[in-house]
Amino acid sequence: MDDLVFPAGFLWGASTSAHQIEGGNIHSDWWAWEQAGRVAEKSGRACDSWNRWREDLDLAASLGLSVFRISVEWARIEPEPGHFDIDVLAHYAEVLRGIHERGMLSMVVLWHFTHPEWFSQGGAPWLRPDAATAFGRYARRVAEAMGEHVDLWATLNEANTCVEHAFVTGDWPPGRTGDYVTAYRSYRGLAAAHHAARGAIRDVLGPQTSVGLTHVMPWAHPAAGSWGSGLRRRLYHWEGAHAFLSLVGSDLDWLGVQYYYDAPMTLAGIDDDDGDPPRTDMGWRIYPQGLHGVLHEAWTRYRVPMIVTENGLADAADVQRGRFLLDHIAWTHRAIEEGVPVLGYLHWSLIDNFEWAHGFGPRFGLAEVDHDTFVRTPRPSAALYAQIARGNRVTPAMGAGLTYADGTSTLGPR
Ligand code: BGC
Repeated sequence: MDDLVFPAGFLWGASTSAHQIEGGNIHSDWWAWEQAGRVAEKSGRACDSWNRWREDLDLAASLGLSVFRISVEWARIEPEPGHFDIDVLAHYAEVLRGIHERGMLSMVVLWHFTHPEWFSQGGAPWLRPDAATAFGRYARRVAEAMGEHVDLWATLNEANTCVEHAFVTGDWPPGRTGDYVTAYRSYRGLAAAHHAARGAIRDVLGPQTSVGLTHVMPWAHPAAGSWGSGLRRRLYHWEGAHAFLSLVGSDLDWLGVQYYYDAPMTLAGIDDDDGDPPRTDMGWRIYPQGLHGVLHEAWTRYRVPMIVTENGLADAADVQRGRFLLDHIAWTHRAIEEGVPVLGYLHWSLIDNFEWAHGFGPRFGLAEVDHDTFVRTPRPSAALYAQIARGNRVTPAMGAGLTYADGTSTLGPR
C-alpha cells in the first residue's frame, strides 16, 4: 500500500456537543428528563467544559487539528421565550475566538438533541406552530452575536436520531413509543426550522455564508448469502436517513455525514450477527467500508460537498480505536479518489462525554476524562490521529501492530 495522501487543505477535526460536555444545562428538556429519573445517570457537571473549554481547545490544537466542532445550547441562550442571555452569547463568542486563536476553523451546530424546556413542555416540540419561527429567531440572534467567529454553520444534528429516540423507542424525552406519525410530522417541523435558520443566518451574514446540517447514515448491505433484500435496504436507507433529508432538499451548502455502523439485511430484516465482525464497547458492529458506501450514496442523492462530521467508537481501553481510525479514514480516501467531494473528517469525540441514555459508561474520547477530577488524558490513539492530521496522510507503517480486539486488521481498502 502507498501512502494515502489527502487533498491539500483537507480538514482534520474533532466534534463535541454542548449538553454532553458542558454540564449544568438546567433549562433544557434533557435536564428535566434526567431529574425525573428517566436515565440511570445524570449529566450533572458532564466534563465541566463550560469552565474548562480552554483545556479542550488546547488539546484539540495540540493534536494538530484544523477544525473544531462545538454546539451552542439553545436552552442556555434563550432560557425563556424571547429572553436572550447576553452573558451566554458572549461566552460562546469567546470560545469561538479561542478556536481561531489556536489556528483552527470553527464549526457550530445550533441544535444537538436538546430543547429549552419552554419549547418542548414535555411534548412534541417540532409540531408547535411557531417552531420554525422560534428556531429562526434563535439562529438570527446567534449569528448576530458570534457570526464573525464561525466558519461552518450546521443548523441541526441528526434529526433522525432524535426523533427516533423521542417518539419510536422512547428512551429520550418525551419518551413516546411507536408514534411514527409524530416522528414524521416532526421531520417536517425540523426541515422548516432548518430553512428558517439558514435563511436567518444568511440574512445576517450574507449569502456567501456556508450553512449545512449534520446527519447520521447507517449502511445497509446484503447479509452473506442473502438475496432479494434490495427493497428492504432501500427502505431502511429511506427511513433512516433520506425521509428527513429529502424534506431539506437543496437548501444546503454542505452536508455533514456521520457514520457509526452497518446493517446487514436479509429478507426478514437486519441480521446483527452477520459475518461476526469486531464490535465496540457498546456492541456496535465495526464495518469501515460502510462509510465509503454512505458517502457515495449521499453524493449521488444530494450533490453538495460533504464533510465526515462524526465517526468514532466506544473503546475505553483504546485497543481498537487506532485500527478503527485508519480503516475509516482509508475508506474516506477511497471515496475521494473516486470523485466524491469530501472536504474533511471530524472524529467523535475529542473527550469522553455524557452518552445520553447510556450515561458516562461508553468512552468515545480521543482523550479519557476522569469524571471526578475532570482531568483529560489523551489516549494512545490520539497520538496516531495527530500524526495523520499533521501529515495529511495515512502511511502503511501506521498500521503496524494495530488490530481490532478479535485480532483482525483487514477491513481497510487494499
Ligand atoms: C450523536 C452524538 C453521540 C454519538 C455516539 C451521534 O449519533 O450526534 O451525540 O454521542 O452519536 O452515539
